[in-house]
Amino acid sequence: MCGIVGILGKEDVAHDIVDALRRLEYRGYDSAGVATIVERGLQRRRAEGKLRNLEARLVEVPLGGKAGIGHTRWATHGKPTETNAHPHMSARVSVVHNGIIENFRELRDEMVAAGCQFESETDTETIVHLITHYLDAGKSHLEAVQETLQRLTGAFALGIIFADDDDLMIAARQGSPLAIGHGTGEVYLGSDAIALAPFTNKITYLDEGDYAVLRRETVEIYDRDGVRVERPKVQAVAGALTVDKGNHRHFMHKEIHEQPEVVSHTLAHYIDMSTHQVAIPDLGLDLAKVDRVTISACGTAYYAGLVAKYWIERYARVPVEIDVASEMRYREAPLADNGLAVFVSQSGETADTLATLRYCKENGQRIASIVNVRSSTIARESDAIMPILAGPEIGVASTKAFTCQLSALACLAIALGKARGQIDEALEQELVGALTEMPRHISSVVRTEADYLPLATELSKARDILYLGRGMSFPIAMEGALKLKEISYIHAEGYAAGELKHGPIALIDEKVPVIVIAPKDALFEKTISNMQEVAARGGRIVLVSDAPPEAFGAEVMHQVVMPTVHPFVSPIVSAIPIQLIAYHTAVFMGTDVDQPRNLAKSVTVE
Ligand code: AGP
Repeated sequence: MCGIVGILGKEDVAHDIVDALRRLEYRGYDSAGVATIVERGLQRRRAEGKLRNLEARLVEVPLGGKAGIGHTRWATHGKPTETNAHPHMSARVSVVHNGIIENFRELRDEMVAAGCQFESETDTETIVHLITHYLDAGKSHLEAVQETLQRLTGAFALGIIFADDDDLMIAARQGSPLAIGHGTGEVYLGSDAIALAPFTNKITYLDEGDYAVLRRETVEIYDRDGVRVERPKVQAVAGALTVDKGNHRHFMHKEIHEQPEVVSHTLAHYIDMSTHQVAIPDLGLDLAKVDRVTISACGTAYYAGLVAKYWIERYARVPVEIDVASEMRYREAPLADNGLAVFVSQSGETADTLATLRYCKENGQRIASIVNVRSSTIARESDAIMPILAGPEIGVASTKAFTCQLSALACLAIALGKARGQIDEALEQELVGALTEMPRHISSVVRTEADYLPLATELSKARDILYLGRGMSFPIAMEGALKLKEISYIHAEGYAAGELKHGPIALIDEKVPVIVIAPKDALFEKTISNMQEVAARGGRIVLVSDAPPEAFGAEVMHQVVMPTVHPFVSPIVSAIPIQLIAYHTAVFMGTDVDQPRNLAKSVTVE
């Protein structure tokens, strides 16, 4: 999503703002701009495309000013053009905005009727004209913003500066995160702490509904009721401030390779490695009395939840309702009286997931969230969190967060099973043993990376690719299809292997590679028979399995040889080959692996 940066500095700020915006590039964007306050009032430079285009513009036409705001835009209202790029401004005020103003159309009509001239198609420009309207009516800067905030419906974050005061920036958080950075005689604003790392690690996160009046020496924060509040000043986590690729070509590659380490960290957070017992945080309810678990998430996080459904139902004998967040809350799913609702989100800011969390909370569910960002909105609005220790995940395609989410969810399933008397000491030792061995198995798969290069070359020629899996390999098949399509742009679909004969098999011919995830588990034989149906129709099979070749009885284009692991952890280990397949195919195709087209790392709009 969009990135916001603001600086009230001691020196000219334009280039520092662009540097800070570069640390937000991972969020995905399609245009960028900077506005500053100069003698003559407000000035701005904007450009379509990547930040290098904005930098070129700043070289052509330098921009002075010691107070400014900047923005990377991921287009929601209006095409990604310079005219629609932020900051938007009038002679009196300039605004950068992340999120969506849902009632912008009526507000725009009102402003046009009042004689305002709009230059862009954006919802953001409505905010500029509203603030200007209130300023022209004699309101103070803060009053004009307060009045405007009262008029806005939607989820957004704002950074605002004024032509006539270069020691003032106003920030507002209503659905999209904002962080304030405290400097020495300077103050900063950013969508997250990563953006402010070059300036400070003393951070204050605004709460939902907060707005703040920033000056170089003072910060005043008000809650949604306009009451002055204090928010804690924290030391940003070091890991959050040091994101670079190291010696990897892409962040995604680095993050795939980090998995043995970060999965270990996550497991160690929930497993007493000396006793091999699971201990999860107190979720604030008696796990023995949970009648039903509801899981909701989006994208890759949803597929992690889907694997957890198999674990929880099989090992804890608790029914699990699961749905993508964008559907769950609108179908008003009936919820159990003393149910546990689990939300999985790497960023902790996904709008659909947050909205469904709020729906479940309003309907009496106990809320637990599996998040990678403990200061995120989803974390703050949960009754309990189970953090993953994946570290900052910069690549838009989620990898290490996925395997860490699965690790935490596996521990949750074990804790539920223990609480309900379904998992005894012996079984806990067995399952925990499988988990603790898992990082080593992940490492062994990552070490075979070179074997994926010829396969990637082959797959890059395909237009359509199918992924098949049974049982817990089915969500992994869908995740594999998502990984491939989102970074290589090759169309791919994941199917339950047993579903093939109910339609999708019509797609099979020699041009359609079929990637079959078939660990040698209780479902192996059935999956292999589905695979033979594919082979009989000329389908080219890529087999991801630990079984020996003679076990297949059919020609395969390529076998990804997997280590034999406990069935409990096979979906986690199977995630690695599908990540490597997607990564190397995309690299071969030359796409923008870390920032695929049209995608954003954190989708903070519905
Ligand atoms: C995964 O590779 C995608 N980037 C996307 O599906 C992502 O998992 C989804 O948007 C959910 O994001 P979250 O985990 O931050 O909530």
